Amino acid sequence: MNLEITKHNIFVEEAWSFIMPDHEKWSKEIKNIILVENNKEIHNHTTIIPATNVKAKRTAWDSHFRYPQIRSLTSELSNIIQDWIKKENFDAPTLQVKDCWINWYDKNNHAVPHRHGVHLSLVYFVDVEDSKADFLFIREDRYELIRKENNETFHNNMKYVKVKNGTVLMFSGDSMHSVTPNLSNNTRITFAANYVVDYLANTENKTEKLLNV
Ligand SMILES: [Fe+2]
Repeated sequence: MNLEITKHNIFVEEAWSFIMPDHEKWSKEIKNIILVENNKEIHNHTTIIPATNVKAKRTAWDSHFRYPQIRSLTSELSNIIQDWIKKENFDAPTLQVKDCWINWYDKNNHAVPHRHGVHLSLVYFVDVEDSKADFLFIREDRYELIRKENNETFHNNMKYVKVKNGTVLMFSGDSMHSVTPNLSNNTRITFAANYVVDYLANTENKTEKLLNV
């Protein structure tokens, strides 16, 4: 029977990536912060925040207020993102950094599946090539047919993203993701930031705007 079966792509989830300009410089700055933080931990005045979804070490959520280097990094990233927003014509007049932090994963450290719950999240893969862990996007679907030649998918609801040192990956903060355990003895370093859209920041009369909602 010559039956025509039509395929419909129902949902497409987008993610974007670019290579961070001046990656070597930012990498050094971030590694210096980790050195200082690890040293503080050894001498019992740690500011490393206890693990949550990320079962590794990390700096505080408000790292852009604690470290001038991170403030410069987030401002550089914000400029890149604002240009990209214009190009893509997204309705996002102003993006504010909600929080940001550095993660460093030693052996067997990992991140359990989680969401950030914001408009836009980014992960800057600072030093990941010498360690052995993968960033996965996870879809909460259960059963589906997978083509035999699909060798990029570990499981039918996980998508591995190939990144290198310097890659910045941007995605909806509502996308579920995880990091597999670091199977190497080398530390894996990433930087994460969350952004929220502020529609009021650019308006002339914020009170009036609020009342008209
Ligand atoms: Fe995350």
